[in-house]
Amino acid sequence: MTGNGTTDRTDGATRGWDRTGPPSRSRWIRWPEGTHNRAPGDGPHGPIAFGGDYNPEQWPEEVWAEDVRLMREAGVNLATVGVFSWARIQPDPDTWDFAWLDRVLDLLHENGIAVDLATATASPPAWLTTAHPEMLPVDRTGVVLGQGGRQAWSPSSPHYREASLRLVEQMAQRYGDHPALAMWHVSNELGCHNGRSYSAVEEVAFRRWLQERYSTLDELNAAWGTAFWSQHYGAWDEVQPPRAAPSFLNPTQQLDFARFSSDALLDQLRAETEVLHRHTPDVPVTTNFMVMSHFSGVDYATWTPGLDLVSNDHYLMAHDAESYVELALSADHTRGLAGGGPWMLMESSTSAVSWQPVNAAKPAEQLRRNSLTQVARGADAVCFFQWRAARSGAEKYHSAMLPHAGTDSELWRTVVGLGADLQALREVTGSRVVAEVALVLDYEAWWAAELDAHPSAVLRYRDLAQDWYRALWDRGVTVDVVPRGTDLSRYRVVLAPLLYLVRDAQAEAFEEFVHGGGALLTTFFSGIVDEDDHVRLGGYPGAFRDLLGVRADEFRPLLPEQTVAVSGTLGAGTGTLWSEPVRTDDAEVLLTYDDGPSAGYAAVTRATRGSGHAWYAGTHLDRAGRDAVVDGLLAGVTAPAEATDGVEVVLRRGDAGEYLFAINHTDTDGQVHAEGTELLTGASCTAPTTVPAGGVVVLRR
Ligand code: GAL
Repeated sequence: MTGNGTTDRTDGATRGWDRTGPPSRSRWIRWPEGTHNRAPGDGPHGPIAFGGDYNPEQWPEEVWAEDVRLMREAGVNLATVGVFSWARIQPDPDTWDFAWLDRVLDLLHENGIAVDLATATASPPAWLTTAHPEMLPVDRTGVVLGQGGRQAWSPSSPHYREASLRLVEQMAQRYGDHPALAMWHVSNELGCHNGRSYSAVEEVAFRRWLQERYSTLDELNAAWGTAFWSQHYGAWDEVQPPRAAPSFLNPTQQLDFARFSSDALLDQLRAETEVLHRHTPDVPVTTNFMVMSHFSGVDYATWTPGLDLVSNDHYLMAHDAESYVELALSADHTRGLAGGGPWMLMESSTSAVSWQPVNAAKPAEQLRRNSLTQVARGADAVCFFQWRAARSGAEKYHSAMLPHAGTDSELWRTVVGLGADLQALREVTGSRVVAEVALVLDYEAWWAAELDAHPSAVLRYRDLAQDWYRALWDRGVTVDVVPRGTDLSRYRVVLAPLLYLVRDAQAEAFEEFVHGGGALLTTFFSGIVDEDDHVRLGGYPGAFRDLLGVRADEFRPLLPEQTVAVSGTLGAGTGTLWSEPVRTDDAEVLLTYDDGPSAGYAAVTRATRGSGHAWYAGTHLDRAGRDAVVDGLLAGVTAPAEATDGVEVVLRRGDAGEYLFAINHTDTDGQVHAEGTELLTGASCTAPTTVPAGGVVVLRR
C-alpha cells in the first residue's frame, strides 16, 4: 500500500445493513394472477413491467373507469399508486380514509393491472408540519423550508418518523393481502428535496452519528484535522452541521455531513422496509433512485443491500445534445448498483418535464429509443411519471402517458406502440447484460472531489466519467458502472477516472486486479486522499503511485480556457483542466506535454504489472486522445457486434438465448452485423441487419 492511508473506517456491516453491495435478498415483482399482458412466452421475470405513477386521488372517480380501460389498451400492467396521497389517506391525526384506495386497488386488480403500492410517506400533510414545525427541513443558511411544496420533512425528525411509520403500518396491514399488490414502493426519490437539512433535529442526529463513527472526540478532532484554523472541539455539543460560515468549511466535516445525510435517509428507508418485511415477507420492496447526471445527494451503494430490487428514475437534460450517452451511463450505473441483475425503470418522461428552464418536448421516436435502450441495458420495467397529465398543481405541464389532448394524439399512439413493443420483447426479462469492462463510479469520491478549496473548482466528477464512458460507448463496448467494493475479477478492463478519495480496500482491489492481468485506467486527481480526506503523502497520485509507476510533486491545474499540446506514441492532441508534471518510475511514457506548465513531462503512461497494465492520464485528453487510450486499454475487448456509426449495440444473455439490441441514433438507416429473429417485427434477418433511421432492432440469436 502506498501513501499513508488510514485503516478504512466504515467498510463492513454497520447499522444493521451491509455497507455496500447489491440487494442481498434479491426478489422481482410478484406478478399477481391474472396480470394483463402476462403470456406464456414471458421471460423468467414475467412480462416487462409497463406503466407509471397513477394519482387517481387528483381526479373525480368517474375518470377512473376510463383510466383502466385506456391502461389496458396501452398494455399497461403495473401502476404505482399512492405516492403523494398521505393527506387523502389520513386527513387528520385520528382519521383514516382507505375506502377510495380500496376501490382503486380493486379496480386495477379487476383489470389485471398489478400495483406497486407506495407507502405514501413522501409528502407529509399540512396538519403534521403545522403541529411539529421542528420537523421541517432547514437550509444551510438557516431558512426553514415550509409546507406548500412536497417532501417538507427533515430526515431524522422523530415526529416525522413516528407519523410515517404509523402510516406504513396501516398500509401494510390493510393491503398486505390485497391481490393486486405486486411490490412496495418506499417513499419517493428519498432526498430529492430534503437530502441535506441543517435543522436542530439534524444537529442532534449528526452528533449521534459522529459518536458512532468516532468513539471519542479526540478521534473526531484527528479525522477532521481540527488543529487547523482553531477548530478544535472540547465537547460534543460544540459540533454542528456545516452551516453557512464566513470562510471555507472544514472539508471532512462536510464529507461526514454528506455521509450522515445519506445515512439519515437510509434510516428512514430501513425503518419503512422493516415494517413492510414484517407484514409481507414475500413482497419485494424498492425505493426509486435518482441515478442521473445531476444527482449526487446520497450514496446508493449503501442503500442497495437492504432493498429487494433496484429501481431508478431517469430524466434527460434538454440541453444535452448527446443525452443518449448520459442515459446509457445512468442505466449501466443502475444495473451496477443492482449487482448486474435486471432493474426497474420506475420513472421517466414520455415527453417534456416541467422543471428545467425550457422543457423541450421529446420526439416520438426518441421516446421509443430511450425506453428500449433502458431495456437493452437491463431494465425489465419501463414506467413513467405519470399515467394521466395533471390539470392542476405544479406539474400540470409535465408530460404523461395520457396527455391533456387525450387519445387523439401522437403521444398516445406512441405510448400504445411502446406497449406493443414491450410485449414483443417479453421473453428477454431475467436475462443479464454482458460486460467485460467496468467503470467505478463512487458517490463518496464524487462528494469529495467537488469539495471547495481544491486546486481547481471546475472538475466535475460525473462529467469526466462520462467523457471516458463516451469513448467506450462509441466503440459499442458495454460497461458495468459499479460502486466501490465491487468484485473486479470478472472484468478485463476497469476505468476509475478522478477517483480523488480512495479507501485503502479499494486501492488494494485495484492492485490485485492489475496484478491478476487486468487493465486499469485512472486519471489526475485520483488516489489523493484517504476516507478522512487527508492527503496521502509522498507525492501524487498518492494511493496509486506504485501501481502506476509514476510520481508528481505538483498538480498544475489549467485555467478554464487553457489547453496544452501532447504528443507521443498514441498520437498528438491536447489536454485541458490539468497538467501534472509526471515523472515515471518504471512506467512507459505514451504521451508527453509539448508545451504548457509541464512541458517535457509525461502526460499519459502505462506500467506493466505481471500480465496486467496500469494506465495513467495526467491531463484531461481531448476526445481523440481518450479514444487512443481506450483503444489501447481495451486490447481485444470489442462490441458484441459491429455496427455503423451512431448505432448502439448491447447484448443481454439469458437461459433461453441471447438478445442483441441495436439502437440507431442517427437519421439515416444503419446496420448491425448480426442475424436472428427480430423480436419487434418477427422478421428473420440475415447479417447485416438494417437498423432503420432512429429505430431499434432486437435480434434473438
Ligand atoms: C420525479 C418525481 C415525480 C415527478 C417527476 C417529474 O422527481 O419522483 O414525482 O415529480 O420527477 O419529472
